[in-house]
Parts: sequence; C-alpha cells; structure tokens
Amino acid sequence: MIESARQVDNSLTGMVALVTGAGRGIGRAIALELASHGAAVACCARSLSEIDEVAALIESTCPGKKRAAAIPLDVSDETDVKRAVAKTTEIFGRLDILVNNAGIGVFGSLESLSVADWDRVMAVNTRGTFLMCRESIPHLRKQQRSFIINIASVVGVKGYPNQSAYAASKHAIMGMSSALAKEVQKDGIRVHAICPGGVDTDMVGDARPDLDRSGLIQSEELAEMVTFLVTRRGKGVIDVLHVRRDGNTPWV
Ligand SMILES: NC(=O)c1ccc[n+]([C@@H]2O[C@H](COP(=O)([O-])OP(=O)(O)OC[C@H]3O[C@@H](n4cnc5c(N)ncnc54)[C@H](OP(=O)(O)O)[C@@H]3O)[C@@H](O)[C@H]2O)c1
Repeated sequence: MIESARQVDNSLTGMVALVTGAGRGIGRAIALELASHGAAVACCARSLSEIDEVAALIESTCPGKKRAAAIPLDVSDETDVKRAVAKTTEIFGRLDILVNNAGIGVFGSLESLSVADWDRVMAVNTRGTFLMCRESIPHLRKQQRSFIINIASVVGVKGYPNQSAYAASKHAIMGMSSALAKEVQKDGIRVHAICPGGVDTDMVGDARPDLDRSGLIQSEELAEMVTFLVTRRGKGVIDVLHVRRDGNTPWV
C-alpha cells in the first residue's frame, strides 16, 4: 500500500542543477549524484581546479549533450553570484535545482572571535545562500517543479561550544528557508533544508578534531538524500531532513 502510493521518478534528465561548493566534500558528491541521474550540473566554488575536475568527471562518465560546467564564484559576492546564475542559464537554458551547499566554519569560543571572523562566516553561509536564492528564483519559477536545497546543519537547530558564529549562520539559513518556502510555494518551488550531523569531509576535521571519523556520515549518503527530495512525487512534502550519525542520540 505504502509502496504503491509512493511514486519515485529517478530520472533528472533534462533538468539543470547548480551546486555551490561542488569542488569537494558534500557538494562534490551531490554534483556527481545529480549528474548520474541525468541532470546537467553547474559546478560552482572558488577553486577552479577543483570544480574543473568535477565537471570533467561528469562529462567523461555521463553520456549525452553538454552535461557539466565549472563556473567559479564566491557566493558572498553579489556580482559573482549574478554572473554565475546568468552563465548557468546561458549554457544550459534553464535552472531546476539550486543546491546551496557552499559553506565555511569559523570555530573557537565566542570571546575569541573577531568581527572579521563573524562577518566572514555570515557572509559566506548566510548572505551567500540569500544571494543564490534571490538570483535563482526568477529562473526556478519558470519550471513547473523546481527546488532549492539548503544544506544547513544540525548546528542549524542546536548549539555546540566553540561554534557560535557557525551556529548563528546555520540558524539563519533555517529561518530563511522556512520563510522562503512559504513565499515561493505558489510558484511551484519547493525549499528543503537538510541538517546533517558530522560528515566525513575536510571541514569536520577542523571543527571537531575529537570525533572518530570512522563513524561519520558519508557525503554520498547526503547526495542520495538530495536525489530523493528532487525526485519525489506525491502529496507529502518534506521541509527539513534531520540526518544524525548512526549511534548518536535519536530524536534530539
Ligand atoms: N562536514 C560536516 O560535518 C557538515 C555537517 C553539516 C553541514 N555541513 C555543511 O555542508 C556544506 C559543505 O560542507 P563540507 O563539509 O563538504 O565542506 P568542505 O569540504 O570544506 O567544502 C566546502 C565547499 O564550499 C566551497 N566554498 C567555501 N567558501 C565558498 C565561497 N565563499 N564561495 C563559493 N564556494 C565556497 C569550497 O570551495 P572553495 O574553498 O574552493 O570555494 C568547497 O567546495 C557546508 O555548508 C557545511 O556547513 C557540513
């Protein structure tokens, strides 16, 4: 009964995704995963060599017409964001899926943080997500169904010592996502937030050197969850996905 009610279309063929922070870690896995389901992917980050490598990998492994482009940008820079979104639609002709994944961590006790530390994490994580959404919505609105996936964090709903700036930036993303989802529902744009616990990437090594990395969530698992969100059909809508490490405390 449940199975027949659940209609899943795994094909993203014909759809175009823009993934920020696609050069490594979670964003790289998401870019590769969406491409493997048929989407064309604009791979965006600051390090051109990294996004070039991801775009080349997609082009070499996924058949079809042009399937990937490396588009460098700093998500905190309004001009860069405008240019990158325009470039994506110029190359691929449309935009269906925006994945706001680019992010940085600034860690240390609140007393130790400088104004520059605070501003940097808010500029990348929060302003970057805002700018990417603002510039993408006019294109997303043209599709019958389109998606904004904001990679927040468990730190978007909880707080940990030495993560006050990062937590503030991720709580802001959760508030923005909730408000935006209501604004654009009428346009057929679904806004989803994903709140992962520790994922085995470079970032987590810096933030939580105490964690045993063997127990961390794999980037590919999150990428599969993004695919799940953008391929679901039906009446039920998932607003927030909370993803904890296996063995960590359930339901908090
Ligand atoms: N790892 C975790 O445990 C974890 C848990 C929950 C949530 N998250 C979130 O997941 C996202 C990805 O994290 P990750 O662990 O994969 O980190 P990562 O391995 O450090 O990768 C971060 C990506 O974001 C890009 N980026 C950073 N600043 C940018 C900027 N100003 N403009 C454009 N791109 C920028 C980086 O490329 P460049 O440096 O080349 O620009 C890189 O491609 C982040 O938003 C993070 O907060 C991570």
